[in-house]
Amino acid sequence: MCRASLLRSAPFELPQGGNEARVEGCSGAIKVACPFFLFPPPNPLKGALNSSGYKLTDFNSELNIMKFFIDTANLDNIKEAQDLGILDGVTTNPSLMAKEGITGDANVIAHYKAICDIVDDNVSAEVIATDYEGIIKEGEALAALNPKIVVKVPMIKDGVKAIKYFTNKGIKTNCTLIFSAGQALLAAKAGATYVSPFLGRLDDISTDGLTLIEDIRLIFDNYGYPTQILAASIRGPLHIVACAKLGADVITAPLAAITALLKHPLTDSGLATFLADHAKASGK
Ligand code: G3P
Repeated sequence: MCRASLLRSAPFELPQGGNEARVEGCSGAIKVACPFFLFPPPNPLKGALNSSGYKLTDFNSELNIMKFFIDTANLDNIKEAQDLGILDGVTTNPSLMAKEGITGDANVIAHYKAICDIVDDNVSAEVIATDYEGIIKEGEALAALNPKIVVKVPMIKDGVKAIKYFTNKGIKTNCTLIFSAGQALLAAKAGATYVSPFLGRLDDISTDGLTLIEDIRLIFDNYGYPTQILAASIRGPLHIVACAKLGADVITAPLAAITALLKHPLTDSGLATFLADHAKASGK
């Protein structure tokens, strides 16, 4: 069962007299609850679910389940997360590429291709250029490497212009270094596929990073912006859980933060007891 909030921007059509709707791209039927001032609903009703209008109350589909991306250029880490069976995609940045010692055009290209061979979903590859023409040239070359590649563009004036260009060309983008709701709004208006708000770096300067996720969620839902919130700069498992509660579309985190979700001391002690009891009963 999925939470209603996961589908807030999904377009839907409510048939005459009914309270069940089909949602585009969704396999199951959903029940729609109307706010009292809109009840009975004007039928047939078409629209996008948003925070101030119609809400889903019941839903049985895998559409819009929060995605897990790994924030690294380390192939072993990417393979480990993929082997765990929970990984969707990858985000990289110039610092993460440098950390793995990946330099030079040929090596960078080969590395992005190797990452794309491991995962099924999008791989963010960041441009180095900061001028419009340079961003376009680099971005087009990156996008041509593999359909999974998303061009990661910094939140600067030429970056926003480039995102608009890429959007018109059908090239996916991830607007990075987002630290305010206004920046996210601008990127969404330019058609960015993803915005990457940096939670941890806001927390580092005593500003609440999670409030930024909440604000962006509200703004995107108010207007049905399809831009996905890719929560980045995640430092630990509690950030991931908080992002899921706030309705982030994607989280990207280091392997350690993702695997920390597995851990609980009561799981460890409970399992130890089960195994010990079993051994005792079996006379071992
Ligand atoms: O990939 C961008 C972002 O996740 C960076 O995180 O830990 O360097 O603030 P961090």
